[in-house]
Amino acid sequence: MAAPTRLGVLVSGKGSNLRNLVERGYRVVAVATNRPSCGAAAFARERGLPLGEFSQRRFGSVEERDAAMQVWLQGHGVELVVNAGYDRILTPGFVAAFRDRIINVHPSLLPAFAGGMDAVERALARGVAITGCTVHVVTEEVDAGPILVQAAVPVLPGDTVETLRARIQAEEHRILPEAIELLAQASPSLRQ
Ligand code: GAR
Repeated sequence: MAAPTRLGVLVSGKGSNLRNLVERGYRVVAVATNRPSCGAAAFARERGLPLGEFSQRRFGSVEERDAAMQVWLQGHGVELVVNAGYDRILTPGFVAAFRDRIINVHPSLLPAFAGGMDAVERALARGVAITGCTVHVVTEEVDAGPILVQAAVPVLPGDTVETLRARIQAEEHRILPEAIELLAQASPSLRQ
């Protein structure tokens, strides 16, 4: 059963992870994006989810952007922030405000292919036999926080970025909910 944790989901992409959480019955109380035209933002509007738009051009600095996003998420009672295809690095101030309450899904077996939004491309170009995905706690250091769940995905002969990404994302849709459950069990304050 889905945990009742109040989730704030940060998105920049097509939104398959956001959709998966919503369809599994997770309590998504806020969606924040830096790209109001992305597929994930369109999905949030379609479902009537509160959507916060934090395009960098509206702010004088990344600190101001993240401070505004922090206040907005806190105003929606967010208990756990989920980076689901969010393509900005969170500022130390934001990370501190939600210490141990931010998780990120990354399409590689961290620490391999850390950083950036092109981990699948780099794994394929490197010729690895096995890659995968990771859900980890976000700290100030990019993609280096404690790992909660990982899934391995074999690279198959003839794989393209698209075919490999699709198999990795199928695993992301399984392990992101698993990580949320794990964290809810481990942190009494995330339970209601
Ligand atoms: C996901 O595959 C996620 O792992 C990746 O962006 C994709 C978003 O897909 N994140 C990163 O690369 C973070 N560095 P979605 O918008 O369909 O959920």
